Amino acid sequence: MDGTEPHPRLRFSAVAPQRPIGTLADDVRGGLLNPPRTLPAKYFYDEVGARLFEDICATEDYYPSRCEEALLREHGRELMAAMDAEHLIELGSGSSRKTRHLLRHADAGVTYWPFDVSEAMLRDAAAALVEAMPELSIHGLVGDYHAGLDVPLPETGRRAVLFLGGTLGNFKPDQAKTFLREIRDLLRPGDSLLLGADRVKNPAVLERAYDDRDGVTARFNLNVLSVLNGRLGGDFDLSAFEHRAVYNREAERIEMYLEARRPQTVHLSAMDHRIRLEAGERIRTELSHKYTPDSIRGLLAPAGFELRRLLTTPEPHAYSLVLARATD
Ligand code: SAH
Ligand code: AVI
Repeated sequence: MDGTEPHPRLRFSAVAPQRPIGTLADDVRGGLLNPPRTLPAKYFYDEVGARLFEDICATEDYYPSRCEEALLREHGRELMAAMDAEHLIELGSGSSRKTRHLLRHADAGVTYWPFDVSEAMLRDAAAALVEAMPELSIHGLVGDYHAGLDVPLPETGRRAVLFLGGTLGNFKPDQAKTFLREIRDLLRPGDSLLLGADRVKNPAVLERAYDDRDGVTARFNLNVLSVLNGRLGGDFDLSAFEHRAVYNREAERIEMYLEARRPQTVHLSAMDHRIRLEAGERIRTELSHKYTPDSIRGLLAPAGFELRRLLTTPEPHAYSLVLARATD
């Protein structure tokens, strides 16, 4: 991946997996063939899905992105001063659009390390940023963060990890704890973590955010079936499924499903598998956990972080930016 770099301040590398992770076929075998049927959320983000996610962020109903952007715009300067980092590593960086509210306050010599599984999105975002920010160096990292965070950082220089958009919410609580520990291992005492975390709130507001009136989230959800069709020779008929977003109060999370409108058999020719679905049967495609100040503290402390700032937008659209410091 190195060698043909398009700009003197821009380079890319592939992140070497530190442990084996399943292929799409493995994940389909493990999750989709038998009930309860599930798919990992990372498969949403092919080129179409990555664009649809940006479209979701522009809808009136999906408030998390707008709220996070407002916090970054208002507090970007002080957050950058508090982190005082030479290396900013952003996990699941996507379009890096909101991150500009931080990067515009970066001192000369800072390197931004966007890390994403969606290579096309990462390359486009990094190419646009390097033109817009004349002092910034960018080292794009293509990889799956579930396979580890083997980032080729230099030994010196304070580090900060950015994990924005509420994406930690897409991890189950145990996975989130393990992942935060992995992030902590990338950092030294005194380094920072800036985390976006959506808040527990009125279920109607949450369900609206995940079933927006423009139907963009429905298209985003259904697109994962196109990904299976394209990569596994599937014959999913998207019109035979309905998008569902349900708030689970006990687990404090939105659960997204694709629900079969009628009985059907789907063939995945690349795997030579048939999936029989009853009418009303669901495939769970995403979990999106919501947090309280206590649950945020409960995640941070065992992973080796102390809370420094909790910035929150007002109800009914509470969303938090959490600044934490790696403890000794
Ligand atoms: N941080 C951005 C994008 C959030 S969408 C924002 O706040 O708007 C989630 C992003 O995480 C997508 O860009 C997706 O491609 C990326 N992503 C999802 N699963 C991933 C994985 N396993 N490894 C690396 N990136 C992943
Ligand atoms: C990326 N992630 C935090 C989004 C979320 O809110 O869980 C993905 C998303 N799914 C539906 N809308 C947005």
